[in-house]
Amino acid sequence: MSDLLIKNGEIITASQRYTADILAKDGTIVAIGEGLEAPAGAEVYDASGKYVFPGFIDPHTHVYLPFMGTFAKDDYETATVSALCGGTTTLIDFVIPGRDEAPLSAIDTWRAQAEGKACSDYTWHMAVTRFDDEVAAELREIVKMGVASFKVFLAYRGALGIDDRELFYTMKLAKELGVIVTAHCENQDMVAELQAELIAAGKIGPEWHEPSRPVEVEAEGTRHLCTMSEVTGAHCYVVHLSCERALREAVRAKLRGVNVYVETLIQHLLLDKTYAERPDFEGANFVMSPPLREESNFDPLWEGFRHGMISTLGSDHAPFDTEQKKMGKDNFCLIPNGIPSLEDRVRMFYTHGVSTGRVDIHRFVDAASTAAAKIFGLFPKKGTIQLGSDADLVVYDPNHRDKISAETHHMNIDYNPFEGFDVHGRCDLVTVRGNVQVRDGEFVGKKGIGQFLKREPTHF
Ligand code: URP
Ligand code: ZN
Ligand code: ZN
Repeated sequence: MSDLLIKNGEIITASQRYTADILAKDGTIVAIGEGLEAPAGAEVYDASGKYVFPGFIDPHTHVYLPFMGTFAKDDYETATVSALCGGTTTLIDFVIPGRDEAPLSAIDTWRAQAEGKACSDYTWHMAVTRFDDEVAAELREIVKMGVASFKVFLAYRGALGIDDRELFYTMKLAKELGVIVTAHCENQDMVAELQAELIAAGKIGPEWHEPSRPVEVEAEGTRHLCTMSEVTGAHCYVVHLSCERALREAVRAKLRGVNVYVETLIQHLLLDKTYAERPDFEGANFVMSPPLREESNFDPLWEGFRHGMISTLGSDHAPFDTEQKKMGKDNFCLIPNGIPSLEDRVRMFYTHGVSTGRVDIHRFVDAASTAAAKIFGLFPKKGTIQLGSDADLVVYDPNHRDKISAETHHMNIDYNPFEGFDVHGRCDLVTVRGNVQVRDGEFVGKKGIGQFLKREPTHF
């Protein structure tokens, strides 16, 4: 890898904005300043008139995902190529064992999926889908291996969901080990009963998915997690929060001193539940959990970002194609849940957040990169631009204009939920530890260079 000198870019981090050159050597940022000399053999890139952001971090992806009787469509190569084209240089994916599977064996499965294929760096949250002494012993090993965050599902009864006793002991262990517990917060019993009632009444189409998981169910799940956090002392993180009711529960807990962080998704800021009501089963492409909501939730979520009540923006990338969605054509409960958005998360957030003035450019960087690095123990190696940080950089041309389309995206999926949406900006250059992986929005780099990122516990 040759040295890389990025000249004259406007460097934007979560807290700073200035014009300077950046020199990357052996994968690390070694100099930042004006008028830097290019070492012999270095590539020199002129970023005049463009922003230079730290590589973006997606705290919530499902690249390899066996789920609801099928598998998500991307693999570590297609997913990370797509991520990079959209400016994301680090993914945090979920290792999810089946309920009867040993956690360490699931780690082996995910490692086999990722190694040699990933084109961006990655790390994992470890899902706890059963809790007993054997699982606890393996979780201790897994944390020592550098997987320093857990994931629990308070949803999906009879599949990935755990009960309260398991949740309690998972959180006690997390507190002891200093790892944060991320959680999908919906009351699984209420969902299961509401689903059964709707199906029995002949309400079988995708438009009934949202009514089967109303905002009250998510708010209750969020409060439940926060109470467990309060009692056990473990730090917690609500993934893919979709609505004002749930946000209020998290904020109420914050005010009581509970260590709770909140993530929302680009889908929940831009797509409302009418997408899942589209005729001819097209709505199935918009079935995810928690569901797309009433539009009235958008403003509170944007305000949540502005005021720091919401820390991070994820994609919850979980691509199931039109054929797979048909598994639920006679019963919405069988539609594989998930929406693809890994590639478009950052540019959609920039376009609809920064360009519209809804989010300050520093909050944008924070929510899409820095905050995740801090919460999940990757900072300052990732998530910022400073001496000694990895040279994960995104040169962004804010004046480029584009439209989202499944015809041109890189994700291995036959539709795009943001089809036809305008985009402001393009990732003109994207580097991973100094390796140029993207030019002019297209992957040009080396496949398989992505590294697993070991993380230390940070939440004692
Ligand atoms: O619908 C979703 N969100 N699918 C992916 C799995 C999950 O719950 O995050
Ligand atoms: Zn979830
Ligand atoms: Zn998810």
